[in-house]
Amino acid sequence: MSNPRAGGIAILDFGSQYTQVIARRVRELGVYAEVFAPDAPEATVTGRDPRGFILSGGPSSVYEAGAPQLPGWLAQRALAGDAALLGICYGMQAMTHAFGGVVAPSNAREYGQAALRQTASSPLLHELPAELTVWMSHGDRIERPPDGFAPLAVSGNSPYAAMGDVERRLYGVQFHPEVAHTPQGAAILANFVFGVAGCEAHWSPAAFIDDAVARIRQQVGAERVLLALSGGVDSAVAAALLHLAIGAQLTCVFVNTGLMRKGEPEQVTRVFRDQQGIPLVAVDATEDFFDALRGVSDPERKRVIIGKLFVDVFSAQARALEADGVRFLAQGTIYPDVIESGASSAQAKVIKKHHNVGGLPPDLHFELIEPLRDLFKDEVRKVGEALGLPESIVWRQPFPGPGLAVRCLGDLTWERVEKLREADAIFTEELGKAGLLRGDTAQAFAVLLPVRSVGVMGDNRTYDEAIALRAVTTDDFMTADWARLPWDVLARASSRIVNEVGGVNRVVYDVTTKPPATIEWE
Ligand code: XMP
Repeated sequence: MSNPRAGGIAILDFGSQYTQVIARRVRELGVYAEVFAPDAPEATVTGRDPRGFILSGGPSSVYEAGAPQLPGWLAQRALAGDAALLGICYGMQAMTHAFGGVVAPSNAREYGQAALRQTASSPLLHELPAELTVWMSHGDRIERPPDGFAPLAVSGNSPYAAMGDVERRLYGVQFHPEVAHTPQGAAILANFVFGVAGCEAHWSPAAFIDDAVARIRQQVGAERVLLALSGGVDSAVAAALLHLAIGAQLTCVFVNTGLMRKGEPEQVTRVFRDQQGIPLVAVDATEDFFDALRGVSDPERKRVIIGKLFVDVFSAQARALEADGVRFLAQGTIYPDVIESGASSAQAKVIKKHHNVGGLPPDLHFELIEPLRDLFKDEVRKVGEALGLPESIVWRQPFPGPGLAVRCLGDLTWERVEKLREADAIFTEELGKAGLLRGDTAQAFAVLLPVRSVGVMGDNRTYDEAIALRAVTTDDFMTADWARLPWDVLARASSRIVNEVGGVNRVVYDVTTKPPATIEWE
């Protein structure tokens, strides 16, 4: 397939927090999906010849002044039987309104899981059970569907929980098939994407890579590109992708702050410079960082110092490269980093969440390249695997920008950070041996506490510091539970840490959830 983006699904974003999740669900089916603002020009939305259109949910009420509406061109095409359409929640209401049906506030808001009962068979609910559990969140509902539409399913409070005009391939659902709380949601979307819209599954990590490579080449031409490698998954995948696209036109800069986990700086150099052959400028700024952080114990001050110094060190490299003719700055921004400023991701403003780099100085004028900005983390990992990056990078757990500084409570000295680094490496190694690093723990690490307590080693009393071990399970890092690690894994980690790491005589395991605790200590 020459253009894997062609023949996919165009999604119009009416402002739902789940719009990108719809796109991701469609991509999981192997079909390209792209999100547009409802007022985007027809030529933009149809530029890749989508076979179907999905209208997202949204917070508005169709009759409100300024509420986003189904664009006229799409309404026309749909009514002529020339566009397969699936309206979700507000999208269904916008469609109903545009086609002459009636939407009205419902007496009771329907929120949460609801039981759906099919009342007619249809391609949309093809091969699904007669009774389904779905997830609803709406105040308005359809009172009268547009001409040509028949009810397909009802729920307690929605006489038209699903409706359709089978002939013209137009469907609306009041519930959200894209969320995990609708267990058969993926099957419903698959019915629409394949059964109704007639898409074919040819979107894959490999197709994404081919397409991204072509786009990068087109954007960059013969110019050169700079990319800051952090050692994390996103920048690593971005680097491998750019290197595939433009080879030696890419230069990576890696700043070693001295605050990374054990072996990471060496691994970055080994994988990117030695194995991938990417031109890499590795700056060892360890001494600068430890000089600047000497005697600092306040967590906020640590962050500020690290952020500022990082910008200084990186900008010095960037300035030299700009003077040398480098025009572009590539970033591994991924979708969760993109904080929406408007209704559409096309207009969204880019901010690297939790990014500790406060922005580059104004004398630098790079043009940005962000090839991963539509992807979720697990999609980035699949692309990384397809690019042949090692598992130890692709499956690396998230690590805060200020690195071990946030996990070394109290004074930041080289000795204390080394102590922490060793303990952390032992814990990670034991988890790895037990197969607990992928999935069973979303994040697992050691924390050094500025607390001394009495212990005994051989014939001697000790008065040393304590290590706290933290391992959590979470999907989104907004809430988290502590991982129920096997006792014997904790026992091995604890015994090795007190025996192998000098100056530590006690190990504790953190059994607090988030909230009220956070994942990191600090
Ligand atoms: P908390 O501690 O707030 O952390 O529960 C949530 C997630 O964010 C990560 N984190 C950071 N990531 N720079 C980052 O890049 C930071 O300053 C930072 N602080 C926390 C944390 O590791 C967890 O995954």
